[in-house]
Amino acid sequence: MVAMSTETQDITLVTGAAGKTGRRVAEQLERRGIAVRRAGRSTSPAFEWERPETWAPLLEGAGSVYIAYAPDLALPGAAETVGAFARQAVAAGARRLVVLSGRGEPQAEAAERAVAAAGADWTVVRCSWFMQNFSESFFAEPLQEGTLALPVDGVREPFVDCDDVADVAVAALTESGHAGRVHELTGTRLLSFDDAVAAIAAASGRRLDYVPVTAEQYADGMRGAGVPEEAIALTAHLFAEVLDGRNESLTDGVRQALGRPPRDFADYAAAAAATGVWSAAR
Ligand SMILES: NC(=O)c1ccc[n+]([C@@H]2O[C@H](COP(=O)([O-])OP(=O)(O)OC[C@H]3O[C@@H](n4cnc5c(N)ncnc54)[C@H](OP(=O)(O)O)[C@@H]3O)[C@@H](O)[C@H]2O)c1
Repeated sequence: MVAMSTETQDITLVTGAAGKTGRRVAEQLERRGIAVRRAGRSTSPAFEWERPETWAPLLEGAGSVYIAYAPDLALPGAAETVGAFARQAVAAGARRLVVLSGRGEPQAEAAERAVAAAGADWTVVRCSWFMQNFSESFFAEPLQEGTLALPVDGVREPFVDCDDVADVAVAALTESGHAGRVHELTGTRLLSFDDAVAAIAAASGRRLDYVPVTAEQYADGMRGAGVPEEAIALTAHLFAEVLDGRNESLTDGVRQALGRPPRDFADYAAAAAATGVWSAAR
């Protein structure tokens, strides 16, 4: 059972603070009365993963750090960058590091090891694909248009809710009992993309279609929409490598970390639909 005491008194630095998990982590910490410093390219001072000279001002006085690397730990050099950042954080006085990671990704596991070796208490929050990719990220716009077309056919993924991810990260940042642990998080059910889009259609009361396409068709579509080649290559890699069936299993990571079950996709879809995020594009 995880102790409920709040031990961290000094500043917690939250990287990716405008992102799907960082925003939730920062808001939750503030609700608990913890001093938060947000980091991202649009914060002041600005923080950029590619520019280590921007790290020191943000790290000053940070006793705990939430590490959410962007755009993705699967990118070449990400593990080295995250490792260098973790070591600099510890040299600057951080005693607790919580790193967001991806499930079934060798490159992400290299970043996890680099954080673990940095010399502070560490926790890995290793996640399956986020539910919020459908509402706060690159699947949202196609759904507003009515059709989500991806190079995945039939493979099931145990999508996890970013609220659960943030709850686990905040527990690891503020409570005892999480140091040296890998919390591997999934949702409650394995869903194909077809299943997920059907659940979103039911929740939003709209006809929405899921269409499996080839990797080439998907890349051509992205190119046509003006997506940069680097982003196309990253997405293609994620679909080909991570969505090959390796993650077709559930964990009890949320329950282990928090003592409660994860949120179900249908509950996520109902709450997101109520915000109007999947209303038809005008
Ligand atoms: N999406 C998934 O399904 C999934 C699943 C498992 C793990 N992950 C991991 O989650 C991480 C992404 O986290 P997330 O989904 O919470 O974030 P996100 O929603 O993708 O947001 C990225 C955040 O990082 C900031 N950012 C972007 N580029 C940056 C840069 N070059 N330097 C500094 N900050 C930058 C952005 O804010 P500004 O624009 O203001 O800089 C934003 O706050 C990745 O490492 C990925 O591997 C994702």
